[in-house]
Amino acid sequence: MNKEREKIIIDCDPGTDDALAIILALHSDKIDLKAVCSVTGNGALDTTTKNGLNILALCGRKDIPLYRGSAVALDQKQPATVSAFGDDGLGGYADTILSDKKEEEQNAVDFLVEYINSHPKEITLFAIGPCTNVAKAIRKSPEFAKNIKKLVIMGGAKYTGNMSPVAEYNFWADPQAAHEVLQAGIEDVTMIGLDVTNKIALNCEMREILRLLDTDLSRFIYNITKEGLDDNWKARRKAVSPMHDVLTVAYFIDPSIVEIKPAFIDVVTDGIAKGQSIVDINGHWNNNICNAKYVATVDVNKFYNLFFKEIFNEGINC
Ligand code: BDR
Ligand code: CA
Repeated sequence: MNKEREKIIIDCDPGTDDALAIILALHSDKIDLKAVCSVTGNGALDTTTKNGLNILALCGRKDIPLYRGSAVALDQKQPATVSAFGDDGLGGYADTILSDKKEEEQNAVDFLVEYINSHPKEITLFAIGPCTNVAKAIRKSPEFAKNIKKLVIMGGAKYTGNMSPVAEYNFWADPQAAHEVLQAGIEDVTMIGLDVTNKIALNCEMREILRLLDTDLSRFIYNITKEGLDDNWKARRKAVSPMHDVLTVAYFIDPSIVEIKPAFIDVVTDGIAKGQSIVDINGHWNNNICNAKYVATVDVNKFYNLFFKEIFNEGINC
């Protein structure tokens, strides 16, 4: 059974939606999560590392190693961290899942290079925080990029942003890293941007279902998504909680929930549009040469059915 599962590594900055992506991956019988790597993002590196360890423990998977990654972006500066999920990264509920799980001694960049180069074309890598660790691995090893089987990125956005009118957080936090990763010649890259992940934000009905399910895990997800809901209500009168990163794993489990378009994608590394992703469908402005798949739309109902089915074995009517 285990042999048929797709081997993945998640590079992330947990973060509520990163935590949900890990939880979904751990509940899928299509996925074999080999390791988690941490990076600064939703919180300082100590916070994202600790949250990653505790999420694995919460899911009963202390056996999965976690490697601590980069504290600063490629420009050596600490990216401004968003407090969208509360100071502890998990909406004030991080301390409810404290565990004794320890991180590995090896750092995330060395681990990525060593593991992926020794398993060429076997590993799908998820980059759901700033791309710093992945860019450093590419700089470190000339073989690394071509040895990745598939890279799925949550980052960027077509025509929108959450850090500026045009920049999404993960690309904005380390735009040079995002640029280098996208231009590294990785054979199979999928970018899932904010314009689409905004559509799967957890609404009040879906969140209420979590309360009604009344398991330890459903209550935990209900709790950690409260802060995002409160923030969205205060900022824009929308009663939804962000779920961005979860779509990367959901797409991997069932690609039919999204529509994909080939594109040439790059990132603005500085200036007023810092972090903006340029999504050129079909490489129209680039001699029809594409370097990535752009997720253009998502079937929200299919997404929620998948989410509840995989994690709670519940079909839902939405
Ligand atoms: C991305 O930034 C982080 O806040 C989230 O975890 C997600 O990866 C959304 O812009
Ligand atoms: Ca993230």
